[in-house]
Amino acid sequence: VERRFIGIGLLGVGGIGGGVAAVLAEKAAALAEHVGCPLELRCALVRDRARSRPGVPDDRLTTDPEAVLADPAVDIVVEVLGGEEPARTYIERALAAGKHVVTANKEVIAKFGPGLLARARERQVGLLFEASVGGGIPLIAPFRRELAANDLLTIEAIINGTTNYILTEMDRTGASFGDALAQAQALGYAEPDPTNDVEGIDAAYKLAILATLGFHSPVHPDQVYREGITRLSERDFRYAGELGYAIKLLAIAKQDAEAIEARVHPALVAQDLPIAKVDGVFNAVQVDGDLVGRLLFFGRGAGPRPTTSAILADVLDLASAVRRGQAVNHVLRLDRPKPVRSMAEVQTRFYLRLSVADRPGVFAQIAQVFAEHQISIASVIQKESDESAQTAEIVIMTHRAREASVQAALGALAGLPAVVEVGNFVRVESQ
Ligand SMILES: NC(=O)c1ccc[n+]([C@@H]2O[C@H](COP(=O)([O-])OP(=O)(O)OC[C@H]3O[C@@H](n4cnc5c(N)ncnc54)[C@H](OP(=O)(O)O)[C@@H]3O)[C@@H](O)[C@H]2O)c1
Repeated sequence: VERRFIGIGLLGVGGIGGGVAAVLAEKAAALAEHVGCPLELRCALVRDRARSRPGVPDDRLTTDPEAVLADPAVDIVVEVLGGEEPARTYIERALAAGKHVVTANKEVIAKFGPGLLARARERQVGLLFEASVGGGIPLIAPFRRELAANDLLTIEAIINGTTNYILTEMDRTGASFGDALAQAQALGYAEPDPTNDVEGIDAAYKLAILATLGFHSPVHPDQVYREGITRLSERDFRYAGELGYAIKLLAIAKQDAEAIEARVHPALVAQDLPIAKVDGVFNAVQVDGDLVGRLLFFGRGAGPRPTTSAILADVLDLASAVRRGQAVNHVLRLDRPKPVRSMAEVQTRFYLRLSVADRPGVFAQIAQVFAEHQISIASVIQKESDESAQTAEIVIMTHRAREASVQAALGALAGLPAVVEVGNFVRVESQ
């Protein structure tokens, strides 16, 4: 039967849902041409019906999820509520009702993606999530299609625009973390409660999704080692800069024959590497594949219009299948299961900043601690000395060392009478 329209049901009309509704109207003709019939926004779920929603006719708004999930005229449900619940339950119910689902929800996909995708496959419907990682940057589709013949070796990414904006400002202006955060909040780049961003939780969800797709092995966000950006100080940026490094919140996944490594933490990256030059709210994902070599995906990782670009790409895919009456049978290939290596076993180089007593013999004691923990020092630089307090600040760069050894050495250093304070430690990534 000839389709008169493809019905869209929206769950959420906030920043992103509002953007989707607006572009559905603005580009209606081009979207209809692509699919072969119009896309029609049938209904949209919100909490507060009284608020005006430009782009959504008043009679299409509802506060009843059933009005979307049980409407036979809705072919594709677009979930842009955010958060784990009720988003996860609504996605499940939509799939169970035989509806296709497009979601921007990294938390739900990172935690429950494999199960939900299996459910979608049983029902022969699609569950697409391009917008869940990297906003407008095409990542999920290339990971699933264009890179399908590769074995991926590493994924190294800046996938949280809020923290990248804060770090860029700290680097550029010498601002403290607190001041840079306040500025990001004033500009709307950071939420009033910034925990998910600044503690690396959001980046860990996104890395779990990319690693699962890229390595064909389930990686749960709980298996991603995570450290946020709150410990970084203006001094770390200054010293890193003097040594030729930028500081970025990196999301890193690697695999070798035995195991997967997955971690989110601040890192020193050499200033001449492309990823060190990704500034402000931009995102970048660098991938190394055995066939393709190195790729760099770069662009806007958030915002209503970039995110709508990704959501509508998924909607168009599914709408075309509906229009042609084709079943959708996406496969999530998880045939290379591997354990995730514990952080204690991971090896990296380290930057350490110590405040020490300014007297002879102190370097020898510090060097002794490193030797006892099998860590080899690449360089020691004395930065500032405080004559009245008789202390000096030193920066130590190590060669590659096991995380567990470095943590043990840090404990031993903190116990030395000559060490006034372990100011900070940051891992160094040098690919
Ligand atoms: N913002 C970005 O740049 C960006 C980028 C990529 C992906 N995403 C993802 O997109 C999703 C949506 O983000 P957003 O920025 O649009 O969020 P948002 O502005 O907070 O909008 C959420 C919308 O969902 C509605 N909603 C939330 N809980 C509900 C419930 N229990 N019942 C009914 N309606 C409910 C809200 O209703 P009311 O309006 O009535 O409160 C609002 O319309 C999230 O998963 C987010 O991670 C966002």
